[in-house]
Amino acid sequence: MKELIRKLVEAVGPSGYEGAVRDLVRSEISDSVGELRVDAMGNLIARKGQRQNGGLRIMLSAHMDEIGVMATHIDENGFVRFTTIGGVHPRTCFGGRVQFVNGTRGLIGGERTDAPDKIHSFEQLFIDVGASSRETCPVKVGDIAAFDRPMIDLGDRLISKAMDDRIACAVLIETLRAIKKSPHELFFVFSTQEEVGLRGATTAAYAIDPDLGISVDVTLSGDTPKGVKMEVALGKGPAIKVRDGGMLADPRVVRLMVASAEKAGLPYQLEVLEGGTTDARAIQMARAGVPSGCVSIPCRYVHSPSEMVDYRDVQQSVQLLTALLSGPIALE
Ligand code: CO
Ligand code: ZN
Repeated sequence: MKELIRKLVEAVGPSGYEGAVRDLVRSEISDSVGELRVDAMGNLIARKGQRQNGGLRIMLSAHMDEIGVMATHIDENGFVRFTTIGGVHPRTCFGGRVQFVNGTRGLIGGERTDAPDKIHSFEQLFIDVGASSRETCPVKVGDIAAFDRPMIDLGDRLISKAMDDRIACAVLIETLRAIKKSPHELFFVFSTQEEVGLRGATTAAYAIDPDLGISVDVTLSGDTPKGVKMEVALGKGPAIKVRDGGMLADPRVVRLMVASAEKAGLPYQLEVLEGGTTDARAIQMARAGVPSGCVSIPCRYVHSPSEMVDYRDVQQSVQLLTALLSGPIALE
């Protein structure tokens, strides 16, 4: 699974420009699904199985897009000023590298600050693509880029940009392959534009009109020095979301996930996240409402160019979803 993860995290796919990721996912799953389509928002929707014996229509969602930057202005010396796409922080920018969707690579430089320990504001940062004039700059206004880092495999721990949320794309792909028999009609959605407001999942959930919604995404962990106060830690199993900044997970779905983990003998953690949200919020609020929850993969340094996950949590997330989706479901 690590090679699949590497391909996914190293692909360039900021919000609204998920094409390269979509092509990659499509090539990985086209043999294992009943139907594949791309909707107007660019969501890749794979359907697998038919409902039997009281089975449900279930929507699973993992977002393909990643945070990034977009060129707003190119000065006469070829330096590119930019705005952000999704939750990018100035403190993780300086010295970072970016790759534009058009293939151009560059680094983020900054104006001299008043004091050496001062963090640049976005107004003080620019992208240097090695150009020397506006005319020869390969980047134009409106061009979009993602952060650029190769994946590092530390054994149990993996580091890369875009673990949020390609690690969940990998989990859904592996789950799709692992499910041999299910009484449910399963819709695997590889969604777009999550980082700018759950936009892809919103239209996908409307179209699918599911009985149950499950997103797979990363969550923060509280296991680093003086980090966020949170129970979730790397290596202690998938996190079952109870709430985040935008959703109270349906308690029946939380109980279903807990029972599935216990029955399968898998470790799990309960996630209470103060801020942020996932595609599950959009599914939960679709049409007249959908019982929804989220399986989270604990992740350190989320929205930085080096996000870390534990490979065992990733594998156990596949096992949890496979177990949950393979049997009958009664929400109670
Ligand atoms: Co994110
Ligand atoms: Zn995410």
